[in-house]
Amino acid sequence: MSGTVNPRLVGVGVGPGDPDLVTYRAVRVLREASVVFVPVSDGHGPYGPAPGPGVSPADRPGTAAGAGVAPPGRAEVTVRAHIDHDRIVTLPFRMAGDADYLGPARVVAAALRGDTDGGGAVAGGPTVAFATIGDPNLYSTFTALAAAVRTLLPDVELDTVPGITAMQDLAARSGTVLAHGAETLVLLPLTAGVEAYRGAVADFDTVVAYKGGRALPAVRGVLADAGRLDGPAGYAVYGAALGLPEQDIRPGAELRAGETGPYLSTVLATRRARWPR
Ligand SMILES: C[S@@+](CC[C@H](N)C(=O)[O-])C[C@H]1O[C@@H](n2cnc3c(N)ncnc32)[C@H](O)[C@@H]1O
Repeated sequence: MSGTVNPRLVGVGVGPGDPDLVTYRAVRVLREASVVFVPVSDGHGPYGPAPGPGVSPADRPGTAAGAGVAPPGRAEVTVRAHIDHDRIVTLPFRMAGDADYLGPARVVAAALRGDTDGGGAVAGGPTVAFATIGDPNLYSTFTALAAAVRTLLPDVELDTVPGITAMQDLAARSGTVLAHGAETLVLLPLTAGVEAYRGAVADFDTVVAYKGGRALPAVRGVLADAGRLDGPAGYAVYGAALGLPEQDIRPGAELRAGETGPYLSTVLATRRARWPR
């Protein structure tokens, strides 16, 4: 038996936005990790250029949006609310067009090997964490990143720490029971298409829509057709930017025709008699 320890990459769920919604295990893993990577837009998304891999946000000219500087991502804000070590490193991702995971994976693999990123900012060790909003096993960048890291470092051990999902946060904030007794529950992204959503609304008691900001008019239409926007067959609730200063939670009935939402938009539709309960 050799004493060699395989490098370990842990995807850590840090909840949808409110720093309070983080588990003790998440905080412990983030504190103990040799490096904590936090995702940030690479500049091809809505925020303009990011500072580059391995650059500490403390070195940025500012942390707010504007002047071509990417604001800290949600995961980073939550991580910094709990962790004060200096091993937090931004990891730029292309968040528009063709996603690139190999570039970020090379930076993570270097940290797992204990290398630097060339700029001296990443000096890792055997356990590296990647913080991600919500849960790392639900529509998370971590899935593709981990797969790309494994192609570079086949002996890497992959692990996750569960996080509170946007679905759960919206249920709690809106007083919505997700499922009870024999009721059925389904979650789907609107990127799967409006017809998939229409089918789910026909077949399931509670339907959760992710990634539906741009498709909000279609979501509203499907729910209205089914009598599930504001009765008689059920009620819906819309939640955007949960846990953030601009949080917006409303009954589906208050959605205006043609209104779109931001990327961080979630819609719950239940078959309950009224909302809120
Ligand atoms: C890439 S998925 C991430 C899901 C996340 N891993 C989870 O467990 O909830 C992004 C989608 O999650 C939902 N979401 C995540 N955070 C949210 C928030 N703070 N407010 C509203 N919806 C959110 C939205 O539907 C958004 O389009």
